Amino acid sequence: FEQSAVAADYIRSQLTGTVSLPATAGPKIAIILGSGLAAFAEKVEDRVVIPYTAIPHFPHPTVIGHSGMLFIGTLQGVPVAVMQGRAHFYEGYTAAEVTFPIRVLKQLGIDTLIVTNAAGGIRSGLKQGELVLLADHINLTGTNPLIGPNEPRFGERFFDMTEPYSTRLRKLAITAAEQIGFTPSEGVYLAVSGPSFETAAEIRAFRTLGADLVGMSTVHEVIVARHMGIEVLGISCVTNLAAGIQGKPLDHHEVLDTGLQVQGQLAEWITSLVNLVASQ
Ligand code: 6GU
Repeated sequence: FEQSAVAADYIRSQLTGTVSLPATAGPKIAIILGSGLAAFAEKVEDRVVIPYTAIPHFPHPTVIGHSGMLFIGTLQGVPVAVMQGRAHFYEGYTAAEVTFPIRVLKQLGIDTLIVTNAAGGIRSGLKQGELVLLADHINLTGTNPLIGPNEPRFGERFFDMTEPYSTRLRKLAITAAEQIGFTPSEGVYLAVSGPSFETAAEIRAFRTLGADLVGMSTVHEVIVARHMGIEVLGISCVTNLAAGIQGKPLDHHEVLDTGLQVQGQLAEWITSLVNLVASQ
């Protein structure tokens, strides 16, 4: 709790002097951009950009395709905080370390979190490059970021996870998508630790378990956000079909390339969604 307060204080100290963001009216909406989806951050106006390495205790990504910069500014007048890139569990950070930024965002006053990620498509019919709304998730990373003593100033020891992804925000997201000309499907995201991609047998097993998408992020962040009562929306970009489905080996460069191709559409979608959320 104290460490996240220190990090939040540091971020606030970098914002003083910006006209659009007096300390009293900081962002309520935060957006985390996944692999290959970084361009949206460039849409943030009147921005202050802070490298993760400058923020006390903040984990920073080490792999290609994941930069690590916090953008704070406005999106068509709405204050937002955008995390360009995230640290992953497979990099060796603990689940608690990976989710430290969510604690910091809460300390900055965020009440709405939009998480995005690159995912492999499991459900038949999913197309490479498709953007899918998360309806629910399955955490098969083998851990939980809240293991250890509970911090009651953040939330309760035991808390409900029947609606990790807000029905209200999903409805708004569908309206926002329709405004820009598409109707997203919804899916269940299953998270593994990585860094190896799955075997074909694992993907068959995951399909039987009810998973539509597979990836290596997001679920720890969502658990920590829900612990603190933050309302969450999740969007996966199907960057490739999962092992045994796409008929060729998986390649991280393909993940990044597909992300790059759809990030324009994602940016438009999030912009229209942020406007809707802010006007509610
Ligand atoms: Cl197929 N698996 C996992 N674990 N993460 C991914 C992926 C697959 N495609 C993109 N990210």
